[in-house]
Amino acid sequence: MGRLRYLTAGESHGQALGVTLEGVPAGLPLTAEELTVDLARRQRGYGRGARQSIEQDTAEILGGVRHGRTLGSPILLHVRNRDWENWTKVMQVEPLSAGDAGALAAAAEDGNKRATPVTRVRPGHADLAGALKYDFDDVRNVLERASARETAARVAAGGVARAFLRQLGIEVWSFTAEVGGVAVDPANCTRSREEADASPLRCPDPDAEAAMIARIDEARSNGDTVGGVFEVVAHGVPLGLGSYVHWDRRLDAALAAAVMSINIVKGVEFGLGFEQTRRFGSAVHDVIEGRDEDGHWVHRTNNAGGLTGGISNGEPIVVRGAVKPISTLARPLPSADLLTGAPVEKAHYERSDISVVPAAGVVGEAMVLLTLADFVLDKFGGDSLEETRDNLERYRARITSPLRGPAAGSAPATPVDGSDEAGSGGDD
Ligand SMILES: Cc1cc2nc3c(=O)[nH]c(=O)nc-3n(C[C@H](O)[C@H](O)[C@H](O)COP(=O)(O)O)c2cc1C
Repeated sequence: MGRLRYLTAGESHGQALGVTLEGVPAGLPLTAEELTVDLARRQRGYGRGARQSIEQDTAEILGGVRHGRTLGSPILLHVRNRDWENWTKVMQVEPLSAGDAGALAAAAEDGNKRATPVTRVRPGHADLAGALKYDFDDVRNVLERASARETAARVAAGGVARAFLRQLGIEVWSFTAEVGGVAVDPANCTRSREEADASPLRCPDPDAEAAMIARIDEARSNGDTVGGVFEVVAHGVPLGLGSYVHWDRRLDAALAAAVMSINIVKGVEFGLGFEQTRRFGSAVHDVIEGRDEDGHWVHRTNNAGGLTGGISNGEPIVVRGAVKPISTLARPLPSADLLTGAPVEKAHYERSDISVVPAAGVVGEAMVLLTLADFVLDKFGGDSLEETRDNLERYRARITSPLRGPAAGSAPATPVDGSDEAGSGGDD
């Protein structure tokens, strides 16, 4: 696609993160306050580390908005790193003077961890491959950008996409579905969306959440970490986003790539996902019931997660991301030194979270929002919000309008028993 483009910049302990979004139509009401909501949600969650008490993320809008409405020009967002104040010399942009370089080296000699170049590469991180690829002898040059701090910029951008899609009746949220092998029980998901969102793990099942918290505590007391699964759900997505006509126009593929791009996600599935492989087709495919009174086509189930043939099919889109356990352990794993190649007993330790499934879910929402906004703009276009909305409404009216039906006297297209003798050759 590419109607909506965005680029992030910034290091974890640098002065700030920035993101530029290009392609947002004019006339969209937008304030910095509404972007703060998701930034705060990204910072919460039982199992997060000390950094979150330092940062209280807000986004400043530096361009592309006038008097509370977008101008159609690129939108520039800025998220300050409060922690930067503790890293000004280590992360200084300008070349270090001889005096400053000497002072840093002396601090390192005295055991100051921030001032010490990182060479004991951490398993499960970009450290080793990144340092070799970019020819660095201090892994800080890698970890500062590979850090998931960058996802704050994506969440800020996702907030703009949320404001846009909300105007078109599309809502996206997420919840924690699994932590450390403990999964929610759909029959016990008694919390409302708001209640789940306010809970320690953003989880709709209170009993499962208690057991998940126990798993995080167990990991903490062992100096270890745990992963899990988040689920993102998009409601109100019109049927027809994406296409089967070419691989790179498939919405499922774009969503999978977007969610997979989150540092820590190791798998993506839609609807029933891998479970489909264990069932017969009759227990997988969503029976098409026909149309409801508003003219919308209805499926009996949503095992496909709202996507068939690479196209949104009008059902809620359901995407799950598999979150690996955090790589940085309080009891570090053995590793090796980048400069000598010699084994070391313990990898470098950088202040770290224990579990981030709820936060990763908020990043997942942002990636789904940005992808859906791109596909909406690809299909409906529009230089202004009104134009996009008009185009969408006209399309919605067409696909929900009364059917033409078969011409009088003609046979139904498919026999009533559902068999289709003419089409017995398969589709490959
Ligand atoms: C919201 C969020 C917070 C994260 N916090 C940490 C952390 O504190 N410590 C850590 O080792 N990894 C953390 N990660 C994951 C690492 O950034 C990631 O595993 C690492 O960059 C390697 O990338 P990969 O997992 O995609 O291979 C976090 C990820 C997310 C999405």
